[in-house]
Amino acid sequence: MRHLLSPLDLSVEETDQLLSLASDIEKNRSKYAHVCDGKKLATLFFEPSTRTRLSFESAMLSLGGSVLGVSSADSSSAAKGESVSDTIRVISCYADICAMRHPKEGSAYVAASKSSIPVINAGDGGHQHPTQTLTDLLTIKSLKGRLGDMTVGLCGDLKFGRTVHSLIHALVRYPGIRFVLISPPELKVPDYIKENVLDANHIPYRETTNLDDAMEELDILYMTRVQRERFFNEEDYIRMKDCYILDQEKMKLAKPDMFVLHPLPRVNEISVEVDDDPRAAYFKQAQYGVYVRMALIMTLLEVEKPC
Ligand code: NCD
Repeated sequence: MRHLLSPLDLSVEETDQLLSLASDIEKNRSKYAHVCDGKKLATLFFEPSTRTRLSFESAMLSLGGSVLGVSSADSSSAAKGESVSDTIRVISCYADICAMRHPKEGSAYVAASKSSIPVINAGDGGHQHPTQTLTDLLTIKSLKGRLGDMTVGLCGDLKFGRTVHSLIHALVRYPGIRFVLISPPELKVPDYIKENVLDANHIPYRETTNLDDAMEELDILYMTRVQRERFFNEEDYIRMKDCYILDQEKMKLAKPDMFVLHPLPRVNEISVEVDDDPRAAYFKQAQYGVYVRMALIMTLLEVEKPC
């Protein structure tokens, strides 16, 4: 039995296979309509979510399976003090696979250690978000035709942004990747990621606070929201929340084939005027989230690909 707790739980080869399966699903959706007949997905969301939870549910329904779950800590026995370990032991009796989001870093690992069904980490605090990464990889591959040989700008809250952490882990495995890390000094990529992932893999990167200066060298710009819920005080959040606002003026500095991604939700960091720019890819990215989650459910449940 396999879990997906970090992007590294899939080898590069398995990741590429999963992305190919997701692309096939996009083109031939009806072929997959019954591959998970009779299977159940449990969605355990102890933190807010729109895209991740609903795209998981849409994915399982599109495969012919059914879904059950909780959409907030308040509506589950977590509010009564039940541990993640106990919850997952019980959920294992009700479903075949589970996607879990929790505010505590490492919670998905605890769940996996007690689970008798595959556990998918749908976000554990400020740590990792591997299914967003699969979505990001499919988006980049579809837009650029490749995953290596490019300069990726990561902009915004690089300290608490779990999507950024997972994306760095995944992209360093492709040759020719270079990063520009754009953030206020207080929201830089944590040292443990710089040392253990970037430096350990000899990945070229530079850190800057200036988005304008970075624009012209980027092939992908990955914007992120300042993660209000992870701040210790509201004053710091208010001071930093609008540190970067991508607008059409800044887009003029970018290459014609540079694409803008964002895991969403957006607050102020991308002006709505950018939505009409053909290089704005974030809504397309949200659509890809359904296909990769369909492919992931099939992979973890070891469902045969239909001919
Ligand atoms: C992200 C998350 O939850 O980390 N959202 C998502 O899953 N698409 C990003 C965010 O909330 O800022």
